[in-house]
Amino acid sequence: MTKKLWGGRFTGNTDPLMEQFNASIHFDKRLWEVDLRGSKAYAAALARAGIISQDEAAQLIAGLDLVAAEWLANAFVLREGDEDIHSANERRLTELIGPVAGKLHTGRSRNDQIATDTRLWLRGAIEQLRRHLHQLIATTVDRAASEIDYVMPGFTHLQPAQPVRWSHWLLSHVWAWQRDACRLDDLTARVNVMPLGSGALAGNPFAIDRTALAAELGFAEISPNSMDAVSDRDFIAEFLFWATLTMTHLSRLAEDLIIYSSREFGFVTLSDAYSTGSSLMPQKKNPDALELLRGKSGRVMGQMTGLMVVLKGLPATYNKDLQEDKEPLFDAVNTLDGSIQIACGVISTMTVNPLALRAALSPEMLATDLAEYLVRRGAPFREAHHVAGAAVKMAENQGIR
Ligand code: ARG
Repeated sequence: MTKKLWGGRFTGNTDPLMEQFNASIHFDKRLWEVDLRGSKAYAAALARAGIISQDEAAQLIAGLDLVAAEWLANAFVLREGDEDIHSANERRLTELIGPVAGKLHTGRSRNDQIATDTRLWLRGAIEQLRRHLHQLIATTVDRAASEIDYVMPGFTHLQPAQPVRWSHWLLSHVWAWQRDACRLDDLTARVNVMPLGSGALAGNPFAIDRTALAAELGFAEISPNSMDAVSDRDFIAEFLFWATLTMTHLSRLAEDLIIYSSREFGFVTLSDAYSTGSSLMPQKKNPDALELLRGKSGRVMGQMTGLMVVLKGLPATYNKDLQEDKEPLFDAVNTLDGSIQIACGVISTMTVNPLALRAALSPEMLATDLAEYLVRRGAPFREAHHVAGAAVKMAENQGIR
């Protein structure tokens, strides 16, 4: 039987199915790097507080670097009993440097450790998402600038409404993404708070310098209440809402482009790179990239909803339910990472057909302009609106535009 981190008070064995049910290593191993980074900083903090010697801290840090090198080289071997990333890293550290490894966890709990790891990891993921989003915005803005002269019908209720510039439509999506970018920056401030030093729930008994520890790990602040800190997953819920809203925006872009690329509209042609064919109908070219953007928005919304339901009934501080936070988070990050880049690819490679845009314009779309012309000549708007409407009706009756 392998020795467990928490084995001291137990005499019986864990049911093998329970062992699997309890384990999170198969998904939280993704946190190996931030887990080791946090541990190295924590070892240094223990030494600064005089709890371990400088020499012991140096041994721990060197050992943690060896563990990191194994992960990096894809040479880290998981063993039976490696319940989560924290147990796995500590088990390996012990094998590499011996009993001094047992000093690392002094005053720390996996509860403050996992909260810290997840925040560090999400910080990195957000950096990458921010870059992709800025790329999408820049690409679309470039396109809007170079195609500024194209005129198309604007729609409300999916009915032709008034003529607009093609760029006006493109930029209407950009402004939604711009708000997404601002929201991401805004929520990052709440991700970048350090729970380490909260212990299991009651705080750190060894008076480690949390401010110095936070500075070393690049956190802007330390969490003020240890009981809150080990159970707070607001930063994940907020991120998942951000992800949901951003996917909703991409889904709406996708829906527009699915319509615009239909044969009936013919406004745009999607590049082959983002379309697929049918296994049965040789003539088909399907907008799969766009349909997947639309479909995956449902998936991300599901992840957000799932986490909210996990959180809503929890009693104070850490409960194992909280382990269910990571798969939705990882899945949403993966989905957003791919979706934003795919949207950017679709936009930068599609071709626009300015003649089809123009051909879709019709004189009755200028009925509002006719009413506005009458207003400028002194007619009250209500009357002008009525007159213009009557002109449209008359044309309709005569079968002309
Ligand atoms: N794997 C756990 C999680 O993701 C780590 C924290 C475990 N804490 C505990 N008291 N068992 O939440």
